[in-house]
Amino acid sequence: MKVYHKVSDLRAWRGSVGNLSIGLVPTMGALHAGHLSLVERSKAENQLTVCSIFVNPIQFNDAQDLKNYPRTPEEDLTLLKAAGCEVVFMPDEKEMYPAPVRMRLYFGALEEVMEGAHRPGHFNGVGIVVSKLFNIVEPTRAYFGQKDFQQYLIIKRLVEDLSYPIELVCCPIVRQADGLALSSRNMRLSPQGRKQAPALYQALQEAKQRILQGESPKQVCSHISDKLNSTGWFQVNYLTLADSQTLMEVSHPQPNSEYVLCIAASIEGVRLIDNLLFTFA
Ligand code: PAF
Repeated sequence: MKVYHKVSDLRAWRGSVGNLSIGLVPTMGALHAGHLSLVERSKAENQLTVCSIFVNPIQFNDAQDLKNYPRTPEEDLTLLKAAGCEVVFMPDEKEMYPAPVRMRLYFGALEEVMEGAHRPGHFNGVGIVVSKLFNIVEPTRAYFGQKDFQQYLIIKRLVEDLSYPIELVCCPIVRQADGLALSSRNMRLSPQGRKQAPALYQALQEAKQRILQGESPKQVCSHISDKLNSTGWFQVNYLTLADSQTLMEVSHPQPNSEYVLCIAASIEGVRLIDNLLFTFA
């Protein structure tokens, strides 16, 4: 497995492999089985797989969150080697941002809700770093997890608006046996917090059942958020039923349409997100 830290070295490698199909798995490290499922999918669909590891400072709106973000570079490289990843791109901040970025990306209504509303500037930072990675790696396909569903839709818009010749692949959420969605942030939970955390997935499932039975999405989401908040463990940022393409909140779901239930909540100061995609029957 080759490990490159410099953009020029990655580009030289990219030039040397010509027309071979390349799958890109962009990550911020602290890798887990969810990331490895993206690598596995990329390996099945491409001749070569590049995984990038870069904790992107410009997508964090909270300096403490950036400082606390888990960093496990040695373990990450061991996992990627075992997974058969061919190339790892691990630039440092100066390499990715030799000068402060001046441009701003705006994704319209898609970024005005949920993560965009709670983390100002977040999707601008994601869009810029992903554009840079696309320009540096020039992948055939790029792999993202459904757990960050809004991020996936934002990157889809980026690819459409800027005509990147890249196929995007959205891979299913990987969960632990108790339902907790895998996230690098889970490792910051105490054993007690970890025990409570699957309540987020249970909340999504309960909301889905009640909405399918005809209850009002707004009332269901508000009732379940209050229940989570009253445990004393969670501070719910949002629990919303949205259209799976526009992410606009939905009050009256229609038969045969696809929706996404999204939740974000802090537990022990760790902000977790999760979602469920489903069709209203
Ligand atoms: O999902 C992530 O880990 C990050 O947002 C990404 C896509 C690697 C950009 O920094």
